[in-house]
Amino acid sequence: MVTLLQVDSSPRSERSISRALTKQFIQTWQHADSNSHVTYRDLGRYPVPPIDEAWIAAAFTPPDQVNPDLESALKTSDELIDELFAADFLVFGIPMYNYSVPANFKAYIDQIVRVRRTFTIDSDGYKGLVSGKRAVVITTRGGSYAGSPLDFQEPYLQAVFEFIGITDTAFIHAENLAMGTEERQRAIASAHTAIHQVISNWQYDYSAMS
Ligand SMILES: Cc1cc2nc3c(=O)[nH]c(=O)nc-3n(C[C@H](O)[C@H](O)[C@H](O)COP(=O)(O)O)c2cc1C
Repeated sequence: MVTLLQVDSSPRSERSISRALTKQFIQTWQHADSNSHVTYRDLGRYPVPPIDEAWIAAAFTPPDQVNPDLESALKTSDELIDELFAADFLVFGIPMYNYSVPANFKAYIDQIVRVRRTFTIDSDGYKGLVSGKRAVVITTRGGSYAGSPLDFQEPYLQAVFEFIGITDTAFIHAENLAMGTEERQRAIASAHTAIHQVISNWQYDYSAMS
């Protein structure tokens, strides 16, 4: 059975376009594969805390010296990382905020990028430990950034995911959402087409492997 992890990060509820698109992704997947399991993480409604001094001290303490206090500083991080490892496919809905990701998604990144859990360091350098996953990042944007140096969202996410070992990430950008009804409808329709495309590729590859 396939496990999908759906992560929403828009603070908006019904009006959120990224939420509507991740929901459409999951529904389309389940339509073709009713046996799949979905874990849902809502960072928009239930933000995870930014990492703090106790978190950093605990993360960099050798495992044999971790006491219960340090252990509890990593509780949220452990939960998020376990959830990530348990999934085969990762579906992220991320609005563009000020050319990058919302603060709640950055807090999530800081919680999951953790030495000895999601990456290691040895004499050869850094190595990501989150292997064998496929991710799709569905972004929503008021403007358009094709070829623009102001897109600090996709390159950042690509780099940080690769750092922890997620090397197969598809990006679907719903752009020009603030440019009037017609543009918005066009962007949503083309995101729907891209979602169908990603799902049919993933499901085809998965069934060929299993
Ligand atoms: C605080 C804030 C910052 C934003 N910054 C950008 C931006 O830098 N570039 C852009 O194209 N759109 C920007 N937008 C527009 C959002 O990306 C757009 O409204 C998107 O649809 C939000 O996602 P959601 O519909 O899932 O909530 C911003 C919106 C907000 C509320």
